[in-house]
Order: sequence, then structure tokens, then C-alpha cells
Amino acid sequence: MSGMHARLKTRTSAWHARVERAFDLKRVVRDLDHYIWTIRCLRQAHELIRWEAERLDRQTGSGRLAMRLAWMDIDLAALGAASPPPPEMEWSLASSDHLLGALYVLNGSALGGQIILGRVCIGLGLSPRSGARYFRGDGRRTRTIWQAFLDELADIDPLSARGDRVEQGALQTFSLLHQLLSRTVLLRPLAVEAVEPDIPTKKLCRNLASIAG
Ligand code: HEM
Repeated sequence: MSGMHARLKTRTSAWHARVERAFDLKRVVRDLDHYIWTIRCLRQAHELIRWEAERLDRQTGSGRLAMRLAWMDIDLAALGAASPPPPEMEWSLASSDHLLGALYVLNGSALGGQIILGRVCIGLGLSPRSGARYFRGDGRRTRTIWQAFLDELADIDPLSARGDRVEQGALQTFSLLHQLLSRTVLLRPLAVEAVEPDIPTKKLCRNLASIAG
């Protein structure tokens, strides 16, 4: 494990535990409304981070963020739920190093996603084609993609000012996710409505579904 990875893992582990509690996997896998609500929260967090990625550094991660957002839209549409409204909250990252910290959190969450996928398929009877595309993510390629991201992180001196900024971005992102997942009122009660995705989303969904096989 590189120094920068070790720093991030250690400094964010308490946040991981908090976010995992707020995520409430036991409830997610037995309550479809809660599952949908969770995807909507995660989508709002991704949306905020994508805005920041586009503002700060279009090259870093915004393509993958768009892909993950599309997967969530596919799931919500498959489950007959609307995508959430744009999050109305002030949240920003100060630099592209902070953005790297945010991407550490999102890329790392794909590891847990592989476990969540199995539980969701058993608990809710979903599959990647019927509401669990987001958690399938990159499937068997998840580890390789994660390792490639860690290789990029390894170039950063964990004791540098840059390392401080990356850590700050990661902490901010865990805190954002915690805040969104801990809400009980803003998105609830969830109206599960049949929505017709707009045309570009539909097209993207079809393309992604054909890639997903
Ligand atoms: C939005 C919620 C979550 C976020 C943002 C998140 C974030 C992360 C991050 C950043 C890592 C990488 C840690 C490292 O540096 O090695 C990680 C790993 C992991 N997460 Fe989560 N996580 C979330 C939810 C969960 C949940 C609900 C579970 C429960 C199944 C979980 C299980 C794991 C596991 C088992 C690993 C380690 C995987 C491995 O190294 O083999 N996570 N997560």
C-alpha cells in the first residue's frame, strides 16, 4: 500500500464506519423503497461531485462520474422511480487535489458495491438488468480499476501540502455522503412514480445496456 493510500485509508476509516451505518445495508436489502431512496441520495452526491469535476478539471474522472450517474438513472427507471432533483446545497471542492480525494471515496465505494450487489440480488430479487446496475459497476474489472487509481495516488507524497488537500477532499466527500444518507425528510416520503426518461437518457441507457450485455 502506498503512503498516500495508507494515509487516506487510516484518516477516513472512522468516516467509512459512519457512512456504512447511515447506509444501513440491512434495511436496504429488505425494503425496496429504502433501496430507491438510497440510490437517489447517492445520485445527488455524485451530481455535486460531477459539477465540481467539470468546474475544476474535466479530465479527472468526469467521464466515469457520468457513467455512474447513468447507471443510477437506469436503475431508477427500471424501478419506476424518478431521478432526484438537483441537490440544493452549497458544496464545493477547492482544487483538483480535493477532487482526487473525492474520487478516492467514490472509486473505493465500488469495492463495497460488489458485496452490496450480491446482497441486493438475494434480498430484493434484483439483477443488474432490473435495478442493480449501479452496484454491479465495473463488475470483475473493479479491482483492476481500483488498482490503477491507487497507482495514480502513489505519486503523491503523503506528507506534502498536496497530500493534505487530497485528504481534505476525501473527508469532505464522506461527510457529504453521510449528510445525504442521514436525511429523513428531504426526499421522503418517496413518491414512486412511473417516469418516462427523457430522450438523451433513454439513448444513453440503451447504449449502456448493450455494453453491459
Ligand atoms: C456510500 C457508501 C460507501 C462509501 C462512500 C464507501 C467507501 C469506501 C472506500 C473509499 C473504500 C476503500 C478503502 C481503502 O482505501 O481500501 C471502501 C472499501 C470497502 N467498503 Fe465501503 N463504502 C461505502 C459503503 C459500504 C458498505 C455499505 C459496505 C458494506 C458491505 C462497504 C464495504 C466495504 C468493504 C468490504 C471495503 C474493502 C474492500 C476491500 O478492500 O476488499 N462499504 N469503501
